[in-house]
Amino acid sequence: LSRRPADLVIFGGTGDLAMRKLIPALQHCDRDGLLAPQTRIIAMSRSGLTDADFRGKVHAELAERGADLRDLGRFLGRLHHVSIDVSGDGGDARGWARVRGLLAGHEQRDRVFYLASPPMTFGPFCRELRLAGLVTPSSRVVLEKPLGRNLESARRINDEVGEIFSESQTFRIDHYLGKETVQNLLVLRFANAFLEPIWNSLWIDHVQITVAETVGTPGRRGYYDHAGAMRDMVQNHLLQLLCLVAMEPPSRNDREAIRDEKVKVLESLRPISGTEADRFTVRGQYTEGIAGDRRVPGYLDEPGSTPPTRASRQVETFAAIRAEVKNWRWAGVPFYLRTGKRMPTRCSEIVVQFKDVPHSIFPGGSPNKLVLRLQPSEGIQMHIMAKEPGAGEVALRPVPLELSFGKAFGGRVPDAYERLLMDVLAGNPTLFMRRDEVEAAWRWIDPILATWEATGTPPEPYPAGVAGPPGARELLGRSGRTWHEELEEEVAL
Ligand code: BG6
Repeated sequence: LSRRPADLVIFGGTGDLAMRKLIPALQHCDRDGLLAPQTRIIAMSRSGLTDADFRGKVHAELAERGADLRDLGRFLGRLHHVSIDVSGDGGDARGWARVRGLLAGHEQRDRVFYLASPPMTFGPFCRELRLAGLVTPSSRVVLEKPLGRNLESARRINDEVGEIFSESQTFRIDHYLGKETVQNLLVLRFANAFLEPIWNSLWIDHVQITVAETVGTPGRRGYYDHAGAMRDMVQNHLLQLLCLVAMEPPSRNDREAIRDEKVKVLESLRPISGTEADRFTVRGQYTEGIAGDRRVPGYLDEPGSTPPTRASRQVETFAAIRAEVKNWRWAGVPFYLRTGKRMPTRCSEIVVQFKDVPHSIFPGGSPNKLVLRLQPSEGIQMHIMAKEPGAGEVALRPVPLELSFGKAFGGRVPDAYERLLMDVLAGNPTLFMRRDEVEAAWRWIDPILATWEATGTPPEPYPAGVAGPPGARELLGRSGRTWHEELEEEVAL
């Protein structure tokens, strides 16, 4: 960790991400003593707020979220706000002068520019930063996902940012990599001897990666119509999880060694396009239904959004894909990915389904299953077969061997953004995506999106509160498999 003084400048500083994730994470870091006393947080937005307004807004937001407000004065003292409109031609001279004024005389500090703004603004912002003379040798830039809409736009953004910041100064964030259980996956695989020998197609039947959310997209149509579950979740979060499950052991726990192995996985993904997209992918969009105990509107009727357009009708709020990693370790092992909004439960998990015993001497057994639970309660479960107590016929039942991180370690699990923001300040890019990684992910996603767009058929509807459209079950059902029941059992059909 670095306790060097830093100036953290956030573009989109009053936006949803900043207020919901970045500021609360920074407040925790401040409370944990992880920020140098001189470190400042400078939010930039068009909102016209003064420093005092912004501090008041943050205070109110943190209070509403139930944050621990002890020492809040110290944290608020770090905050500044600059009102700036960078959307017009020629820039906002007064706004930039104010940023320059705040940063002047602090060139020795680490400077981090966090772009919590839409991807098409990344290149122009970086150019403005250079024109304003704000980029120092120790500056870094953080790019939020999704990086572009496809391979071509991702490359263009990477080129534009690359003219101003070197690769080692560029931090492409995927907050899933900052989650404790995701990091634990590497430790589980590479710090324990018992798993690695069976972590391959000889022993594993298939892998399921699920990120299910109960939330819908109220007020987010502007973004979501152009993203959809594929760009919002699969291209980044789900593929990163797949990489960590499938990668070969790196030779060192080192930024390049780990990222090299992840790129190899992405490059080994079997391309899916044309008629295969029909067989190996499923798209869904939620309609009106029940979430928890409330009736909620469908995607097209979400309040607080602009009226639905043609794009709204085509966009997927659920996606499921049967992927394959074409290499020696994984040949023939399907990786089923699924993610959706308005699912019955919030649940992110990786399920490794082992093959059946080679020869069964008991009736009624079922194959072992390893469940890595990322959310909501982090832990690991190994489902093993055991004998039910009692005399007479041997009856088998799967029982879980369970590790709960909360129980084992106690204490608060830091939010992913806390970890990642501290890594940026320390200049450690291991948990950030390298340029080639992002581009390899788009290279695999692009043909699927292109096929979906070309067919013009809308996604399959599913009522809010069920685990996706019927096609999602058929995707596994065709080969006699089923999704891990965790998500299914709460479905009120
Ligand atoms: C974000 C997506 O990257 O991840 C959101 O843009 C999604 O649509 C969120 O809700 C999920 O993150 P988490 O940490 O709540 O699982």
